[in-house]
Amino acid sequence: MRALVYHGPGQKAWDEVPDPEITDEGDAIVRVDATTICGTDLHILAGDVPEVRPGRILGHEAVGTVVEVGDGVHRLSPGDRVLVSCISACGTCRFCREGRYGQCLDGGGWVLGHTIDGTQAEYVRVPYADTSTYRIPDGAADEHLLMLADILPTGYEVGVLAGGVRPGDVVAIVGAGPVGLSAITCARLFSPSHVVAIDLSDARLEAARKFGADVIVNDGRADPVAIIRDLTGQLGADVAIEAVGDPATFELAVKLARPGGRIANVGVHGKPATLHLEEQWIRDITITTGLVDASSTPTLMRLVTTGQLDAGQFITHRFGLTHISKAYDAFRDAAGSGALKVVLTREEDEDR
Ligand SMILES: NC(=O)c1ccc[n+]([C@@H]2O[C@H](COP(=O)([O-])OP(=O)(O)OC[C@H]3O[C@@H](n4cnc5c(N)ncnc54)[C@H](O)[C@@H]3O)[C@@H](O)[C@H]2O)c1
Ligand SMILES: [Zn+2]
Ligand SMILES: [Zn+2]
Repeated sequence: MRALVYHGPGQKAWDEVPDPEITDEGDAIVRVDATTICGTDLHILAGDVPEVRPGRILGHEAVGTVVEVGDGVHRLSPGDRVLVSCISACGTCRFCREGRYGQCLDGGGWVLGHTIDGTQAEYVRVPYADTSTYRIPDGAADEHLLMLADILPTGYEVGVLAGGVRPGDVVAIVGAGPVGLSAITCARLFSPSHVVAIDLSDARLEAARKFGADVIVNDGRADPVAIIRDLTGQLGADVAIEAVGDPATFELAVKLARPGGRIANVGVHGKPATLHLEEQWIRDITITTGLVDASSTPTLMRLVTTGQLDAGQFITHRFGLTHISKAYDAFRDAAGSGALKVVLTREEDEDR
C-alpha cells in the first residue's frame, strides 16, 4: 500500500510500504476512506515530538471500513464502517476504567501516528479495535464524523471542560486553528458572555468569528492583554485556553487569566515554557494540561448528528489521498490558503 512516512524533521514522503497485518487478537485492519492532518502532525515534522521515529506512518484521525479483525474482536466485522479515534483504549487498565483513555497503561492512548503506524495511509492497523472505534451512524457524513476523531473532543475536553467554562464567563482562546475553533464552538454550548479569539492570521480570525468568537485580536498588531482587561473591568479572562503549542502563547494565556481564573493548555509543546511563579504565586490561578481522552466522543457524536454542532464548517479543502503532500502545503500555509481542516479521501482506483 501507499502511506505518508515520516523521515525525520522536515521530511516526509508518500511511500510504498507493506500492508498492515493483525499482530494482536484485538486488532482490526481498517481501509482508510477519509483522513485529515492535525496541527500535531506539523509539530512532529518540526521535530517537537521526538518519540516519533523515522519510518513511522503519520496520522491519527480516520473514517474507514473494517476489512479484517483479530480473533479477540467481538463487536466489529469486515464491512463495518467506523470512526477511528486518535485515542486507542485497552478498556481494562486503571485509567481506561476511569475514562482516562489518553493515559491507557496497556498500549493504548495516543499511539496512532506516534508510537505505531497511523492513518495517513490506504490501510491502518487499529489496536483494541472494539474499544478504539465508533460505528458510523446511518445518514451521517464521513467528513463530519472525521472531525470527531480528534479536534472536537480535544477542544471540548482539554480546552472547555478542563478550563471549567461556565455561563457568563469571558473565555480567551489563543490560537484559532481547528483545535482553537473547536474550543470556541464548544465553549458556546455553555453560554459565555464573551469569547475572545487570538491569532496571528487574519484568515483564521475571520473563521473564529464565524465559529462564534465575539472579539478577535491579531496579537501581531494589538495587545490581547489590554483588550481583555478593558472587556473585564481590568480583571482578565475567567478561562484562557492555549491552542498553539508555543512558549510565548502559553505565557500569554497565563497573563490573560484573571485572579482565580483557569488556564487550560491544549497545545503540544516541544520547548520549555516559563511559568512566572514570581508573578503568579499570589493570583490563585489553576493551570491544566492534558492529552485528549476522547471520552466525550459519544456526546459529541450526538451533538453533530443532531445538528447542534456544525462539524461541516471546519472543512475547507478536499484532496484525493494521493495528493496528501499538497494537502500538507495548504494546511501549513493556513494564512495564505485559508485552510482549516483538509479532508483526504480514498480514490476508487486504489481498491486492492
Ligand atoms: N492536547 C491534545 O490532546 C491535543 C490534541 C490535538 C491537537 N493538539 C495541539 O493543539 C494545537 C492546535 O492544533 P491545530 O490543529 O489547531 O493547529 P494549527 O497549527 O492549525 O493552529 C495553530 C494556530 O496557532 C496560531 N498561532 C501561531 N503562533 C501564534 C501566536 N504567537 N499567537 C497567536 N496565534 C498563533 C496559528 O496562526 C494557527 O492558526 C497544536 O499544538 C496541536 O499539536 C493537542
Ligand atoms: Zn491531532
Ligand atoms: Zn487502558
